[in-house]
Amino acid sequence: MMNVVAIDGPAASGKSSVATAVAEALNAVHINTGSMYRAVGYKTVLAGIDPEKDPETFAKVLASVQMRFVRQGQGDPELEVDGEFPGEKLRTEAASAAASKVATIPAVRTRLVELQREMAGNDLLVMEGRDIGTVVFPDAKYKFFLTASPEERAKRRLLQDGFELDPELLQKTAAAIAERDRVDSTRAVSPLKQADDATLVDSSDLSKEETVQRILMLIREKQNG
Ligand code: CDP
Repeated sequence: MMNVVAIDGPAASGKSSVATAVAEALNAVHINTGSMYRAVGYKTVLAGIDPEKDPETFAKVLASVQMRFVRQGQGDPELEVDGEFPGEKLRTEAASAAASKVATIPAVRTRLVELQREMAGNDLLVMEGRDIGTVVFPDAKYKFFLTASPEERAKRRLLQDGFELDPELLQKTAAAIAERDRVDSTRAVSPLKQADDATLVDSSDLSKEETVQRILMLIREKQNG
């Protein structure tokens, strides 16, 4: 069985912060696969192309983009894209929407899933995304599907991005998240869905710390069982 903790779930369910803390507690490496889809989306926006209207140029962009995760001291490895660290640039609304869009393209998934599989080794890996337990590592030893109510997720996303909880902004964010959920769960290739053998963790009424503790407990139970 694969030495992988797979954490999947919808947008802004708290996957990233939970996965970071789980990896830290287990002394494992945390890989956020969403950043890879965001990087392809970001490159597409920079190139000013629409992958649907101009698939040839898009294929060139996809073939040429170089990505790798680099560990800089403590903490999560950071994604390097064509020799640069795009960091926050990957988190803009434009990059998020573009990420969801390019994530529906089979060639994009084939390339990124291959890179993701190469990261598995002897050390424990905590990988988060949409299809880690279903497609990337169906043999992962530990699988979780992390979710939360749409309202709670909209709040978390605003707080994560440093905004106040203004009702209008909350509604706009909830709508953007709902649209991304729709695109992610209805796409033909690797749609967002819970793996049959994944444990569902609904964090609507849990703090981040409680969610992390629950996941660590479930991992320990399985290790000992
Ligand atoms: O942080 P958030 O949950 O909002 O999104 P993310 O994990 O950074 O992922 C951005 C987008 O990439 C998602 O909307 C998905 O469409 C896509 N994605 C995917 O298709 N498969 C993955 N394993 C990870 C992300």
